[in-house]
This record gives sequence, structure tokens and C-alpha cells, in this order.
Amino acid sequence: MEQSIENYIKTLVRDVIGQTLGGLEIQSDRQTYVIANWKMNKNLNETAEFFQNINSSTDVSVVICPPAHLLYPSHLFSKQSGKSIELGGQNVHWADKGAYTGELSASMLKDVGCEYVIIGHSERRQYSFEDDELINKKVQQAFKSGLTPIICIGETLGQKNAMQTEQVLSKQLFGALKDIDSSQFILAYEPVWAIGTGQSATAELAQETHAYIRSVLKQILGQRAECISILYGGSANEKNASEYSAMPDIDGVLVGGASLNANSFDAIINVFAKGEQNS
Ligand code: PGA
Repeated sequence: MEQSIENYIKTLVRDVIGQTLGGLEIQSDRQTYVIANWKMNKNLNETAEFFQNINSSTDVSVVICPPAHLLYPSHLFSKQSGKSIELGGQNVHWADKGAYTGELSASMLKDVGCEYVIIGHSERRQYSFEDDELINKKVQQAFKSGLTPIICIGETLGQKNAMQTEQVLSKQLFGALKDIDSSQFILAYEPVWAIGTGQSATAELAQETHAYIRSVLKQILGQRAECISILYGGSANEKNASEYSAMPDIDGVLVGGASLNANSFDAIINVFAKGEQNS
């Protein structure tokens, strides 16, 4: 939690400086994140075991996004362990509250200890038909409630093959960030063809795409774009983590499959922690 308050203050200061100094170059001091997206996996016992076996690091922010029923237990396990591990939801509703059966509001996520929420994951775009407009409403709601959104963008294989990657990412970015003037968010570039397939993007391709994403962010946020952490996601694991961590525009990873095992996830945290010490 303390780390999150520190990040919040840092970002707030950047926001104010960014707005005041407008076009001036801001020295980038981006936070590194290693974030677990457990998707629809794990039960209570497995979660308790995970929190016993995981280590945290002071050099990187570690965030676990468990399924909804494990949020509060995870909050307790994390507190008990005394490790600096933060929590995020995997989804949020755009309304404050009301008759929305099966949904969770941003204040409910805060209530059970969340500081972050994943918004716009490709699985939600695909299976729950979430579009850019809805994603934008959820991002606005997250800001309103003091949650940091982890906004996911990424192209499908068909779009990649049709050379539409930049066009798709730019549309998703402008859509998600419409009418938003804050840099209190995290972006995750998750090429859909790399998610859960074992076919991760090469670090070079990811770096090139992250640099493009940052150039689009500059159109939206000006120099504050330099301060936004952009994570890579899509079959990231303990073997390829060091290649990503060496890239200047890759500020961490959003990990699905490899985050389910505490040892694998720990290894990824260590890679990024070492990278931070060397930078
Ligand atoms: P993966 O999932 O690491 O299993 O590819 C990443 C994600 O969907 O966030």
C-alpha cells in the first residue's frame, strides 16, 4: 500500500508539472511493474500457498490480479505475509452501483483492498464484446474511485498479418483515453496472437511497438507520455523476461500462465528487480 501511495504522489507531481510546463522535456522515471493476471484460475488453498511462496521486491511493484472470490482472501494473505504485494481486479463495472447482476463496482474493489484494475483485456473484448467506448467508461470510473487502471491494447493475428497493428493500437488508445487528462494509469501491450499461445512477441518487436505506443501517447498527453509505464503481455515467462527487461520502452510485464506458479512468477520478479538495480 505504501508503495502505491508513493507512486500516486509521484504521478500526481508529474501530472502537475506536465500541465504547467507543457511542452518541456520531462525526465522519465518510470515505475517497473510485474503483474499477475490469474484469469479464472485458483482456489482458496492454492492462493494461500502462493502467497506463502512468493517473494516481493522493493525495486519493482508486484501486483496480483486474482479472480473476484479471491480478492479479499488475497488481501489478508498479503497483509499476513508482510510482503509488499498489491492487488488488482480483473474487471470493473462503469456504474457507481445499482441493478447490475453479477458485476463489481470500483468502490467494491477498493473495499477489498484493490489499488489497480485491468480494463480492456482482449478476452473481455472478445468474449464479453467490450468496445472502446465501454472501456473508456470503465477507465473514467476507475479514476473516479482512485483505482489505477491497467489498460490493455493489442492486435489480433489477422490484423497483424494485414499490417494494421499501428492503426488498431492507435484507435484503441484514443478510444480508451477519450476525455482523460491524467497519467495515473498503466498500459499493457498484449498482442492477441501471443496470449496463452507460447508464441511471445520478440523483445525487438515489442520494443518497436512500445515506442510507437509512446508516440501516440505523446499526441494525447504531451511529454507526460514519457512517464507512463508500458508493460508487455503475451506468453511472458521466466525464460524470456530478461530480454524484455533490457528494452528501454518495456517497463514490466503482465503475466498470465506463468504467474500461476509462485516459483516462475518469482523468477520474473527477480529479473525485473535486477534490471532496475542496474539501470
Ligand atoms: P499469458 O496471458 O501470459 O498466459 O499469455 C497474458 C494475459 O492475458 O494477460
